[in-house]
Amino acid sequence: MMNQILLDESVSKIIKHPIDNTPNVYGNCKPLLKWPGGKTSELKEIIPRIPEHSRYFEPFFGGGALFFNTIIKTSFVNDLHADLMFFYKCIRNENSEFYSLLKEFVLVWEESDDKQSIYMKVRKRYNSTNVTSVQKAVDFFILREYAYGGMFRLNVKGEFNVPFGHIYINKNIQKKIDHLSSVEVVSKLKNSALYNLDFKDFAKNFRELYT
Ligand SMILES: C[S@@+](CC[C@H](N)C(=O)[O-])C[C@H]1O[C@@H](n2cnc3c(N)ncnc32)[C@H](O)[C@@H]1O
Repeated sequence: MMNQILLDESVSKIIKHPIDNTPNVYGNCKPLLKWPGGKTSELKEIIPRIPEHSRYFEPFFGGGALFFNTIIKTSFVNDLHADLMFFYKCIRNENSEFYSLLKEFVLVWEESDDKQSIYMKVRKRYNSTNVTSVQKAVDFFILREYAYGGMFRLNVKGEFNVPFGHIYINKNIQKKIDHLSSVEVVSKLKNSALYNLDFKDFAKNFRELYT
């Protein structure tokens, strides 16, 4: 069953997109967030093995290291993690509420001498049910940036419980936000259909294209 929230009107346009025969050109655009199992350090092995292709399908998108670093073709990307895919959707849609909430965070963050307590407040809000989807996407991004070791871990109640990663205190968050909203990132995502499905259901969407 397709996820109607994430499969929006742009998807049918992309599915009907003519086969893209422009040559593969590999760039150097970094992933948008830390994600366990990211393939950034394996790219030098993967890139030379990518065959000529007209469309790109990625069922386990995660941090999308390969996609962001290399892929320019019309893409279909999927991950079972709903918050992750909604975050990408905010970036693709240049969601103004997302950026204004993030700006509010940065103002408070940069003024504060107690970053750990701000992190803990964000973590608490992310775990609460009383939060808008866009605020949750912002909090998801902040927690990815500042969680200890870049870990993503949930307790038995399904709550995110990774402590603050003190070494990240001086990181340049504005530089990261500029990357999220860069033309390169946004145009890659606009040329992509985003799915939030189990990989088997994702694959079913394309059966008719290849049988
Ligand atoms: C190792 S990460 C992918 C890393 C990514 N290739 C990168 O370079 O950043 C694996 C991803 O698979 C997703 N995943 C796990 N089970 C899945 C399933 N049944 N269907 C779709 N995605 C799934 C996880 O949420 C996770 O983001």
